Amino acid sequence: MTIVMENVSKLYQDGPKSFKALDSISLEVKKGEFLAIIGPSGSGKSTMLSIAGALLSPTNGTVWLDGENIANLSSKQITARRLKKIGFVFQAANLIPYLKVKDQLTVINMLAKHKDRANEGALLRHFGLAHRATNYPNELSGGERQRVAIARALINDPKLILADEPTASLDSKRGREVVETLANEIKSRGKSGIMVTHDERVLDLCDRVVTIRDGRLEE
Ligand SMILES: Nc1ncnc2c1ncn2[C@@H]1O[C@H](COP(=O)(O)OP(=O)(O)O)[C@@H](O)[C@H]1O
Ligand SMILES: [Mg+2]
Repeated sequence: MTIVMENVSKLYQDGPKSFKALDSISLEVKKGEFLAIIGPSGSGKSTMLSIAGALLSPTNGTVWLDGENIANLSSKQITARRLKKIGFVFQAANLIPYLKVKDQLTVINMLAKHKDRANEGALLRHFGLAHRATNYPNELSGGERQRVAIARALINDPKLILADEPTASLDSKRGREVVETLANEIKSRGKSGIMVTHDERVLDLCDRVVTIRDGRLEE
């Protein structure tokens, strides 16, 4: 099991007011499994994904990443685990505007202190981006930018891929291609994936769909 969340709750404190964004969520994602999370805007999807990715800590509950309870780790250890084990894909590609495509990947390899950087070229070829290696983000199409973002998320060979509305900025054809890419990576390399989406047309590419409503999970 790559990720297990047990009774995870999240309370946002906004001055004197507090708001329960997640109410005792439990879920697990197996190796090779691609889970979709749907639900109305404001229901807690991004909060859940941020907790799964250790970008946010839960108010209550436990998150096991690859058999390790990440609540017990220092922030330095959490950063190291995130870099090593998790790949994030966001709604917008969030590429660094002044870096060429290949350097978007190099930066992550440098952060992770990887010595072998052969995977950069291999990933670009794999995603049909080799001819774009020396282009800047503003010279790419939306689909190409999102493919660079996926390549960047995979450079660490992460066990867990987390995607928050990865198709939101794309037309339906490009959106489907991007989710197919994610699904293929998860299946063929035995990774685990969680994708938050509004896009019902890509749900058939996922193994399982759960709904969040008012911070609670409905299966
Ligand atoms: N940092 C925050 N402080 C206070 N409230 C927040 C914060 N982030 C999100 N919320 C609230 O928590 C709820 C869930 O947000 P979110 O997880 O972003 O939902 P979704 O991704 O499903 O749209 C929303 O009502 C939102 O306004
Ligand atoms: Mg959201």
